Amino acid sequence: MIVEELIGVHKHYPLIKALGGVSLKIKSKELLLIMGHSGSGKSTMLNMAGILDVPTKGKIKLMGKDVPKSEAERAKLRSEFMGFIFQDFGLIPSITAKDNILLPTLFGGNTPENRVDEIAEQLGMTPRLNHYPSQLSGGEKQRVAIARSLINNPKIIFADEPTGNLDSKTGDMVMKLLRSLADGGKTVVIVSHNPEHEAYADTVINMKDGKII
Ligand SMILES: Nc1ncnc2c1ncn2[C@@H]1O[C@H](COP(=O)(O)OP(=O)(O)OP(=O)(O)O)[C@@H](O)[C@H]1O
Ligand SMILES: [Mg+2]
Repeated sequence: MIVEELIGVHKHYPLIKALGGVSLKIKSKELLLIMGHSGSGKSTMLNMAGILDVPTKGKIKLMGKDVPKSEAERAKLRSEFMGFIFQDFGLIPSITAKDNILLPTLFGGNTPENRVDEIAEQLGMTPRLNHYPSQLSGGEKQRVAIARSLINNPKIIFADEPTGNLDSKTGDMVMKLLRSLADGGKTVVIVSHNPEHEAYADTVINMKDGKII
């Protein structure tokens, strides 16, 4: 089954064509890896698939339906169906790991009380829930970010260079964790520079100059 489709998607900035017409079908429950050199358009494509931004030209279908242009409607779809993980973890320093994990629930939805405990258990983070980000290792910070991406039980998880700030051993741990989420039925889309990460993927695509090659 196809969860999301990009059809002839372009993204043009005043001085640059970041995406020059990409078409892509994202299959349910696959781990899709987006590879390519710096500046090839990986993050731009992830932001398109994550409906954080709208194409200059072309179309995006989420579960068979056209994605609306309005930011409010897209925000609603994102909070219902999508989770996000970033290279710099994106944690708020002044609140605990637990409160960071709960952030997405502030924008609606009906997350059961015990869900945070369940996810923390699954990710081995239970003893760290009351720690602040500065008290966590890089791998632990990224596990908090992964827990946060899971809190609303999304269909698709998008991760832009999730191991970019981690040593290779910790990076492998994070990739294994993301692989296990795909095995558990999530669709996982990851941007990476690291060819070793291909081993974790069901599908690998390569980008160059704003196109899939
Ligand atoms: N907001 C923006 N305004 C203008 N140009 C942009 C913007 N965002 C990205 N670009 C340009 O679009 C191109 C693709 O950028 P993108 O961030 O998608 O690359 P990337 O493959 O993710 O690179 P990296 O591996 O360095 O993260 C680059 O040339 C970049 O400079
Ligand atoms: Mg990038």
